[in-house]
Amino acid sequence: MSNLVMDKLNKCLNQVREKTAFKPLVAIVLGSGLGDYANNIKVEAIVDYHDIDGFPVSTVPGHAGQFIFGYVYDVPVVCMKGRVHYYEGYDISDVVLPVRLMGLMGAKILFLTNASGGINTGFGAGDFMMIKDHISCFVPNPLIGPNVDELGTRFPDMSHVYDEDLQDIIRQTASDNNIKLQEGIYAQLTGPSFESPAEIRMLKTLGADAVGMSTVVEAIAANHMGLKICAISCVCNLAAGISPTPLTHDEVQAAANEAAPKFKELVTKSVIKMGKAYGNN
Ligand code: HPA
Repeated sequence: MSNLVMDKLNKCLNQVREKTAFKPLVAIVLGSGLGDYANNIKVEAIVDYHDIDGFPVSTVPGHAGQFIFGYVYDVPVVCMKGRVHYYEGYDISDVVLPVRLMGLMGAKILFLTNASGGINTGFGAGDFMMIKDHISCFVPNPLIGPNVDELGTRFPDMSHVYDEDLQDIIRQTASDNNIKLQEGIYAQLTGPSFESPAEIRMLKTLGADAVGMSTVVEAIAANHMGLKICAISCVCNLAAGISPTPLTHDEVQAAANEAAPKFKELVTKSVIKMGKAYGNN
């Protein structure tokens, strides 16, 4: 049966393939303020989102729109410089289209990054939190609608979305390089408003350590298609009601920019180890 989601994905894939045949091992999604990670890549090809008909293009300042194909040392990667968010008004299936597309390009590993607000009072602004699990029930599930059988099963298991072996690699990399790494549960809300203090208290009661406006729906779609997933959040501010000051996007970006050098080191060194562990083809 023809499926609209799959038809759109195939059209996007064909357009990318007209520009490059590059096959990545690791797909990296860069969050707020972390976009210049792409400078660490030996670039083989760049495809502007604008040049892919039907591809969702971000409207948020700080989220450029390009796929960067190339090598982190010798590991083939595709890096999304800029992602789209549900709050921009896209259909949830479009929000996860880029991640699905990178899976169809051949990526076996999805490395998600984002900026978040810290709920766990043991966290400080600028900390990194490796995501061990998530709370997704405040955003629509991206698998709603006819199942895309070509990608995965109707009722995917969610017991181990964030791959234990990839977590070990990130943990070990952080420890070897003296990078402080927190671990915890990430909750995605829709945004675009930041949460109220009462919402943050609710999320804390539910067991969330950090909150943001992305990542979980991408992880659900990638898990559906069988990718190995890992995710690191840059805790850019203390969440509403914990922070003594009102939250602003500028504050989030400034904290992300400050954390960027250590973040890049953690991502790069982890990706190199992932390349060694999972090989190229
Ligand atoms: N809430 C939601 N998303 C965020 C935050 C926050 O406090 N900080 C950065 N992204």
